[in-house]
Amino acid sequence: MGTAKQNKPTAGGVALAVAACALCLLPAMARAQLRVGFYDATCPSAEALVRQAVAAAFARDAGLAAGLIRLHFHDCFVRGCDASVLLTVNPGGGKTEREAAPNNPSLRGFDVIDAAKAAVERSCPRTVSCADIVAFAARDSINLTGSVSYQVPAGRRDGRVSNETEALLNLPPPTSTAQILTDKFAAKNLTVQEMVVLSGAHTVGRSFCISFLNRIWNGTTPIVDAGLSPSYAALLRALCPSNATQTTPITTPMDPGSPNVLDNNYYKLLPRNMGLFFSDNQLRVDPAMAALVTAFAANETLWKERFAAAMVKMGRTEVQTGRCGEVRLNCSVVNPTSSSVELGSSASAVDEEGVAAS
Ligand code: HEM
Ligand SMILES: *[C@@H]1O[C@H](CO)[C@@H](O)[C@H](O)[C@H]1NC(C)=O
Ligand SMILES: *[C@@H]1O[C@H](CO)[C@@H](O)[C@H](O)[C@H]1NC(C)=O
Ligand SMILES: *[C@@H]1O[C@H](CO)[C@@H](O)[C@H](O)[C@H]1NC(C)=O
Ligand SMILES: *[C@@H]1O[C@H](CO)[C@@H](O)[C@H](O)[C@H]1NC(C)=O
Ligand SMILES: *[C@@H]1O[C@H](CO)[C@@H](O)[C@H](O)[C@H]1NC(C)=O
Ligand SMILES: *[C@@H]1O[C@H](CO)[C@@H](O)[C@H](O)[C@H]1NC(C)=O
Repeated sequence: MGTAKQNKPTAGGVALAVAACALCLLPAMARAQLRVGFYDATCPSAEALVRQAVAAAFARDAGLAAGLIRLHFHDCFVRGCDASVLLTVNPGGGKTEREAAPNNPSLRGFDVIDAAKAAVERSCPRTVSCADIVAFAARDSINLTGSVSYQVPAGRRDGRVSNETEALLNLPPPTSTAQILTDKFAAKNLTVQEMVVLSGAHTVGRSFCISFLNRIWNGTTPIVDAGLSPSYAALLRALCPSNATQTTPITTPMDPGSPNVLDNNYYKLLPRNMGLFFSDNQLRVDPAMAALVTAFAANETLWKERFAAAMVKMGRTEVQTGRCGEVRLNCSVVNPTSSSVELGSSASAVDEEGVAAS
């Protein structure tokens, strides 16, 4: 850690840092690209260590796999895949993404990322970004629950800002219409088809009452929302009291039959009026979306192929690479400013190739 090399920045160092900052403002195409095997030379055990941490957590609590898949989605949709969702403190002040309603208290898996990061830091200090760990962990979770495997292009750098309002603005709420879903994904360069494909992740995991409460209760009066089966609504009402709040610690699986198996059951539940969220049911209302739902319900292999490809694409959203951002030492907090200067320059050696390509 902080060795004697950590001097005051030289004039040349400052000039380099300025140039690096300018590079970060270039359009995505002009910047260093992510690549598979990014850590092959600098930390060959990185992906195996993350896999071990995820597998250990999964053995303890299989639901964590769902948590880690969602963590990657919620990271990527706010300021890009930069691990901003992990920060507990915003150096700029104000509440963090992690405190925002879509994440608090429902988002889980933070301790798995911390365990993976600790293992990786022991083997190769200051080398592997938290954002890449989140992307690897989502992939491993998908493999453990769905036997789907894909390679993760890496080289993401960690951000230094986390802002509650940005989470609220970018993450689609469960009350979203088909149009809102389309728009929120389009804002991240994801197509309607990719949105429908990625929504299939709701075949694993759970939800707190608050996310569907207005489909079963109007105040204290029982109701059944359009597209919700009355018998399913009755079960949900027995579980969730009408006065449940954001933090009421009651949850229900989104795919009650197999909540820890990444299968195509989500698409089979929708036509049975068993999509848990209003937004889930919207995929049946829009004809183009409904055709995809039918196709994925009929062919699980097709969905799994598309799902892996869409996860890789989502993982490229607005990433920082090269000398932009930093490699956080502790995934919950940004680096102290002095150490980020040093990290910036040491990481440039690792990444010369990517930067030169720009
Ligand atoms: C299409 C728009 C989406 C909406 C409106 C949405 C909404 C939600 C909501 C409300 C929950 C439950 C939160 C709670 O506990 O209250 C949830 C859970 C979940 N979502 Fe989504 N989601 C969307 C897309 C996605 C995508 C793209 C992924 C991943 C690729 C994803 C993966 C998950 C997973 C795995 C869970 C379960 C988490 C757990 O068990 O901890 N969702 N989602
Ligand atoms: C957070 O983001 C919002 C919306 O972009 C902005 O108005 C606000 O100033 C930001 N807050 C902080 C503390 O930076
Ligand atoms: C993913 O799962 C399959 C089937 O369970 C397995 O054969 C494969 O080795 C796994 N891939 C990785 C990278 O662990
Ligand atoms: C947006 O997606 C298209 C098609 O999937 C891809 O070719 C393009 O490079 C993406 N653009 C950005 C800025 O990510
Ligand atoms: C909700 O109402 C029940 C009675 O139906 C009561 O026992 C419980 O304390 C209430 N919870 C909250 C959060 O108000
Ligand atoms: C299902 O999708 C796979 C992958 O695209 C394809 O190879 C296969 O032919 C499809 N099966 C059927 C029955 O259409
Ligand atoms: C990371 O930072 C948090 C918040 O300051 C702290 O509680 C935690 O102990 C730190 N973890 C490590 C491994 O240093």
